[in-house]
Amino acid sequence: MKETLGDPTLCRELIATYGSPVNLHDYSAMGENVKELNSAAAAHHIDFQVYYARKANKTMAAIDRAMYEACGVDVASINELRQCLARGVPATRIIVSAAVKSKALMELAITAGVTVSLDNEDELRDVIELTGSSGQRLLVALRLAITHPDIPATRFGLPASEWMRVVNDVELGAQVEVAGVHFHLNGYDAQARALGIHEALDVIGQLRSMGHNPTFVDMGGGIPMSYLDSAAQWENFWSTLATLPEGDESLTWKSDRLGSSGGAPGTGVYPYHQDLTRGRWLDKVLTYMPGPGAPSVASALRAAKIQLRCEPGRSLMDGCGLTLAEVAFHKKRSDGVPLVGLHMNRTQCRSTSADFLLDPILVQAAPTGRKRAFDSAFLVGAYCIEEELLLRRRFEFPEGVAAGDLIAFPNTAGYLMHIVESASHQLPLAANIQWDGTKWAADDIDREKLRL
Ligand SMILES: Cc1ncc(COP(=O)(O)O)c(C=O)c1O
Repeated sequence: MKETLGDPTLCRELIATYGSPVNLHDYSAMGENVKELNSAAAAHHIDFQVYYARKANKTMAAIDRAMYEACGVDVASINELRQCLARGVPATRIIVSAAVKSKALMELAITAGVTVSLDNEDELRDVIELTGSSGQRLLVALRLAITHPDIPATRFGLPASEWMRVVNDVELGAQVEVAGVHFHLNGYDAQARALGIHEALDVIGQLRSMGHNPTFVDMGGGIPMSYLDSAAQWENFWSTLATLPEGDESLTWKSDRLGSSGGAPGTGVYPYHQDLTRGRWLDKVLTYMPGPGAPSVASALRAAKIQLRCEPGRSLMDGCGLTLAEVAFHKKRSDGVPLVGLHMNRTQCRSTSADFLLDPILVQAAPTGRKRAFDSAFLVGAYCIEEELLLRRRFEFPEGVAAGDLIAFPNTAGYLMHIVESASHQLPLAANIQWDGTKWAADDIDREKLRL
């Protein structure tokens, strides 16, 4: 990222060729990210498999890289599944975890021989009907809603007791085979994952006593990453924000507290600084003992001869991309607050988090003769709404900013580029390009005509 942004001529050429904004990818960091997880698992001698959660980034080259790194892929829609199959991902390395599954998605999964994570009884009945009429076998995982008192209620999956009742009551038929237990938790807490795995292993034991032969527990995604190295920077931002009087816009738009109170980090934003990430986090999960004398998660998995799977999206994409946009103008709001307008809209660098709390980087690329502004300013975008802020924090431009400069949003490959992007106002979606080792090239996803 630093190397690319250090070359303003190249950055200008990329914007000239692909438009603004453009999403740049280089997946080489994915290898290190996967290795961290695999090494932590290997140290505990467990059977372990990473599935890349495709929803985090839609590019096709990310699928290729995930395969190269010996990952499987977790897919959340029929188009994601179709694309993975077309790309050559073996069916045995795919899991469908879509929250709602169309009949066409289930049919494709059955024909292709892909494992499906079932959310509820209706989905089980659907696949029994579909496999019954096709005569084909289907491996399913039961999606477990973890019911531990320390873990918040979830809309996903069913509690263990419900699944036991369903599996008892419903005739699975010869074709549907329960291959594993799946869960995914909100948040990033290692201990919650450990409790989840213990509960899933308990369900595995019950399934085995009912004559089933499950082989894996899939603990979903939510493996943490850290966008900010400095804990002090992170804490300082929140404590400073807490001191500002209502209406003070020196730090955030309309003194937005971003869900925080009393100087603690906001609840509506991703924890952009985290101490424990990927490998060290997984080690904590595997070392955890649920009670005195109880086996650790790793030894319980080994004793049960169960493979542990996970579905990281964001933390595999860490370091794999940035978003580059062109400055269109600088001006003042009617009351004098400085604004910098970009050729970009706010869905093009946004996730479900209330804001992206990583500083953008200015690349001075404006043609000579453009007036530079030295104010601190808010970045505004192309949608015609007053609250169209690209980021809700105010930024300083010590070297000035001018129309034709470029602004880079670093480390956006996990969710920030794609998860809520829209083409409202008939503005085109951002182009996606990747460094293929020798040159920048368009990603195949931008050629894809989605069958909806
Ligand atoms: C079922 C499931 N698996 C995996 C993921 C990926 O999570 P993350 O990108 O936080 O690792 C999600 C995210 O919502 C999910 O719902």
